[in-house]
Amino acid sequence: MDQKLESGKVCVTGASGFLASWLIKRLLLSGYHVTGTVRDPGNQKKLAHLWRLEGARERLRLVKADLMEEGSFDDAILGCHGVFHSASPVLKPSSDPKA
Ligand SMILES: NC(=O)c1ccc[n+]([C@@H]2O[C@H](COP(=O)([O-])OP(=O)(O)OC[C@H]3O[C@@H](n4cnc5c(N)ncnc54)[C@H](OP(=O)(O)O)[C@@H]3O)[C@@H](O)[C@H]2O)c1
Repeated sequence: MDQKLESGKVCVTGASGFLASWLIKRLLLSGYHVTGTVRDPGNQKKLAHLWRLEGARERLRLVKADLMEEGSFDDAILGCHGVFHSASPVLKPSSDPKA
């Protein structure tokens, strides 16, 4: 598949997280267009700090993606120069400690 790359467009997975939030701040300050993935783009409380970042209103896009859903990230990374993969699931431990 031959996709045309958009200049300065990158994807950051797990955008609401600690590492990703700092990374997005730096990327926006450097002029990049950032597509961030989150599991719930409608969660305004959890994402407010991202929308307050300088350049966010102009160059940040938050889209839904879940590591547990195959193909979920395809649209987010399409046309990006790079992907910073920081999304990290917290898996619940088994109720049986010996399992
Ligand atoms: N923090 C550090 O100092 C540090 C140092 C070295 C390495 N690391 C590694 O770097 C990675 C990120 O660390 P962090 O501290 O930034 O973690 P974090 O704050 O917990 O962020 C991880 C993000 O992953 C997203 N996420 C969780 N489950 C997901 C799923 N099923 N699908 C898609 N996204 C999911 C969450 O966002 P949503 O809930 O919005 O989807 C969450 O904000 C981890 O692998 C960690 O081990 C961190």
